[in-house]
Amino acid sequence: MADRGFDLEGRLAALEEHDLKRALSPVDRVAERGYFAEPSGGDLPVLDSAEALVFASNNYLGLTDDQRVQDAARQAAATVGTGAGASRLVTGDTLVHRDLERQLAETKGTERALAFSSGYAANVGTIAALEPDVVFSDELNHASIIDGCRLADTETVVYDHCDAADLRARLEERVERATREGREPADESWLIVTDSVFSMDGTVAPLSAICDAAEEYGAWVMVDEAHATGLYADGGGVVQAEGLEDRVQIQLGTLSKALASQGGYVAGSSALIECLLNDARSFVFSTGLAPPAAAAASEALHVARHGDARERLWENVAHLRDGLESMGFEVWGDSQILPVVVGDRRDAIALADGVRERDVVAPAIRPPTVPEGTSRIRVVPMATHDRDDIIACLEAFQAAGEEVGLL
Ligand SMILES: Cc1ncc(COP(=O)(O)O)c(C=O)c1O
Repeated sequence: MADRGFDLEGRLAALEEHDLKRALSPVDRVAERGYFAEPSGGDLPVLDSAEALVFASNNYLGLTDDQRVQDAARQAAATVGTGAGASRLVTGDTLVHRDLERQLAETKGTERALAFSSGYAANVGTIAALEPDVVFSDELNHASIIDGCRLADTETVVYDHCDAADLRARLEERVERATREGREPADESWLIVTDSVFSMDGTVAPLSAICDAAEEYGAWVMVDEAHATGLYADGGGVVQAEGLEDRVQIQLGTLSKALASQGGYVAGSSALIECLLNDARSFVFSTGLAPPAAAAASEALHVARHGDARERLWENVAHLRDGLESMGFEVWGDSQILPVVVGDRRDAIALADGVRERDVVAPAIRPPTVPEGTSRIRVVPMATHDRDDIIACLEAFQAAGEEVGLL
């Protein structure tokens, strides 16, 4: 009989052969340092080994082990429950969800906000619910945006990364094409979608120029602030830093990075939120965000807005960027994410292994996550790293870089 199964062994062997196989590496806690499993891919954290410094986490403000955030989660579990128990639309809508959404709307300068069970679900659900005729999408947008476009079965026009002039050219092309085909482009709904901070390149989208182009062509703008929420003006994202709340129709993000929790959100007009809670399938047909996650994100947002964690993060970013660049590394981007671009994937792996031997965790990022020839180490400090941690990280990069022959 024919074998109609799947050649999983073959797939794994192919990944191995091309240095693309990934492995899990458990750690004992989520913080700026921790005990990891043996590199790479061991089963359990090795508590009698040296503690490693973590320079690869999206826990940017280091709030996952903040006492206030932990207490908020604990209290929500004790008073509201450990899980929502149902979709928000059934019986899973609680006071902690409402509190979180009120704070998110206040921070993002919008009428309302809606919490999803992940940032992935927020992107996929929102794009699919809007059903745009055309999406104009930055070429480096996150996978959840791409998947949202697929699910919406929309026509997607990809523009060059962070290039508002190219976006404008694509908008113009679309007008010309519709005119040629005898259609009225005004009949179509157009959505421009971009990450604000790009997670692998550390670049920041030119949001103001994107809004200019959108307004000229009547398109709406959706900004994914996953890597920015909590880090910029008053705990908002790049939209807040640039004062664009009134020009961006849909702000979206995750609670799982600087907000030290789990879940996603959309912020916008009351009409947008009402539509999403009726039509976004990833909201309607998914259990509400767990109350401890909602409460932790609320508290983390409060701390991000009113404490000094943001300031400490940006000081660490400046110190680390300065140090890496003065050693001679090529560091891309202009955000808290510092991609040390090495080029060859084997060099990137060797550099990552070298820093790991020196008790710094910052894994190599390789194709297919990034294009061939741009393999890198995505170095990310946290607000809770102290000066000695930053120096230890820099020393590890110096020594490993020399060992691998990159410096
Ligand atoms: C830009 C961007 N959008 C969305 C997501 C998905 O968020 P979540 O991890 O909450 O599903 C991520 C990261 O994971 C991201 O980097």
